[in-house]
Amino acid sequence: MSFDDIIDRRGTKCGKWDAMEKLFGISPDDGLAMWVADMDFRAADCIIEAGQKLLDHGVFGYQGDYTDYKNAICWWMESRHGWQVDPDHIFTTYGLVNALGVVLQTFTQPDDGIVLFTPVYYSFGKNIAASGRKIVECPLVLENGQYQFDFATYDAQMTGSEKVVILCSPHNPGGRVWTQDELREVAAFCQRHDLLLISDEIHHDLVFSGNKHIPMPVAVPEIRDRLLVFTAPSKTFNLAGNHAGQVTISDPKLRAKFEWMMNALHVSPSIFGTAMTTAAYSAEGAEWVDALVAYIAHNRQTFDAGINAIPGLKSMPMQATYLAWVDFSDTGMDPTEVRERVGKIAKIAADGGVQWGKGGENFLRFNLGCPHSVVEDALKRIQKAFGDLQ
Ligand SMILES: Cc1ncc(COP(=O)(O)O)c(C=O)c1O
Repeated sequence: MSFDDIIDRRGTKCGKWDAMEKLFGISPDDGLAMWVADMDFRAADCIIEAGQKLLDHGVFGYQGDYTDYKNAICWWMESRHGWQVDPDHIFTTYGLVNALGVVLQTFTQPDDGIVLFTPVYYSFGKNIAASGRKIVECPLVLENGQYQFDFATYDAQMTGSEKVVILCSPHNPGGRVWTQDELREVAAFCQRHDLLLISDEIHHDLVFSGNKHIPMPVAVPEIRDRLLVFTAPSKTFNLAGNHAGQVTISDPKLRAKFEWMMNALHVSPSIFGTAMTTAAYSAEGAEWVDALVAYIAHNRQTFDAGINAIPGLKSMPMQATYLAWVDFSDTGMDPTEVRERVGKIAKIAADGGVQWGKGGENFLRFNLGCPHSVVEDALKRIQKAFGDLQ
């Protein structure tokens, strides 16, 4: 298999292509799906083989032994990220948005404030609102075209009703890999205001050379008594349909509380989720990811060069993820007009900035987890849609 292969996903009931007409009014027949964080690549052979092995066996009963699964996760975290994890500290949820829901039910009460550094992955806000908690937006600041924190402003914003901070590390949609100093500042902020910290590190494997992701428990070991780390193979290996994510908690008190809620809700992983995760977190999986990151780096380079050549458009330099965050503010156009041009003229389904919270209004996010030829096609369409600016 090659990342260049065009795999037609239309008619497979996938959200990315088959729901795009309903959600964006763009037909998948001649449109391009570049929205949700879901790649158009075939999974690594080792993962397909693991799924095939289950199918060949043909018996799909309850699972009773998670040793290989947990050991594979620990091996991956240590070998790829320098983070030693105790297998007994790992919980498996139905993905990480589910994990957030369970965390909010476990550790917070209705109307408690949940801090988000915005713009940020929109399901956080949706989940907080659906849980009857309050979103507290702490806007990131744009400096030299990249996002930075502004803790002096955030300190002044805190009222005492905030209970949790959600950090997206690396950052979706800005593609930032936070530095050791920045992670320390986030941890200090949580300590100052007595906040629990969720570090969502789902994009941690998709980091471009020259940048280094540091897991929060490695960057700031002393924060572990208020830390929950979210990881998953779902972005790295495109396994989101498996609904398997991990919450790692090293503090015994937090862990006991979370375990109680997990038991009460009876959340447990599927056999496909654990088998595919075990297969992914392997030497063969690592080789596939290295090739993937190099491929996305090429997509990023082409996309950024094409976008930045259009007057008024700026693609934020991505240090991580396969998600390009494009700023249309300098076109002087209203965000509705930008969306109309991208959706109706270019026929590209891209995620609109407004749902990402403050600071996202003039941006659109484009998914570059696709064959290079699709990126080239998208660029031609965007160049045409904004042809009058050139
Ligand atoms: C930061 C972040 N967290 C969580 C998710 C979704 O995770 P899941 O599919 O496991 O619910 C995404 C998906 O894009 C994401 O970007």
